[in-house]
Amino acid sequence: MADKKTVKDLLADEIKDLYSAEKQLTKAIPKMAKGSNDATLKTAFKDHLKETEGQIKRLDEVARLLEIKHTGKKCSGMEGVIKEGAEALAEEGDEIVLDLGIIGAGSRVEHYEMAGYTTAIGLAERLKAAKVVSLLKASLAEEEAADQKLRKIASGLLKSAPTEG
Ligand SMILES: [Fe+2]
Ligand SMILES: [Fe+2]
Repeated sequence: MADKKTVKDLLADEIKDLYSAEKQLTKAIPKMAKGSNDATLKTAFKDHLKETEGQIKRLDEVARLLEIKHTGKKCSGMEGVIKEGAEALAEEGDEIVLDLGIIGAGSRVEHYEMAGYTTAIGLAERLKAAKVVSLLKASLAEEEAADQKLRKIASGLLKSAPTEG
């Protein structure tokens, strides 16, 4: 763990964490799209994969602007969240019920990302790094929208999901 003496040190670490999380997601999201039964859910994951690729480019730009290295760290939190998602994908049962479980996993991913971006935005604001703040806010808005889309799909699926035996 790097020595954290300043806001900039912590921000650099948060950016590394986000970069690792987004990179891991470029591999995990296609699996979630493939494993989903509902067509709208599949499309939502595919659309968010494209956004995720754009978010990685934003983090490249953030690292360039801050003159920091953003590679070389593994986000173990996201690794765990993705692992739980893989468990949801491996389940068997009713297609709607399974999709609701996959949405739960996807929503956990989005909330984890939102926490990371919100933290990084606060630090970048303290450094008055306006361009960095706006790049991070653009990605945060996409994570929030992705989560809301998942919630909307879930409320539709819940209407037709079997309840008990
Ligand atoms: Fe993301
Ligand atoms: Fe996301």
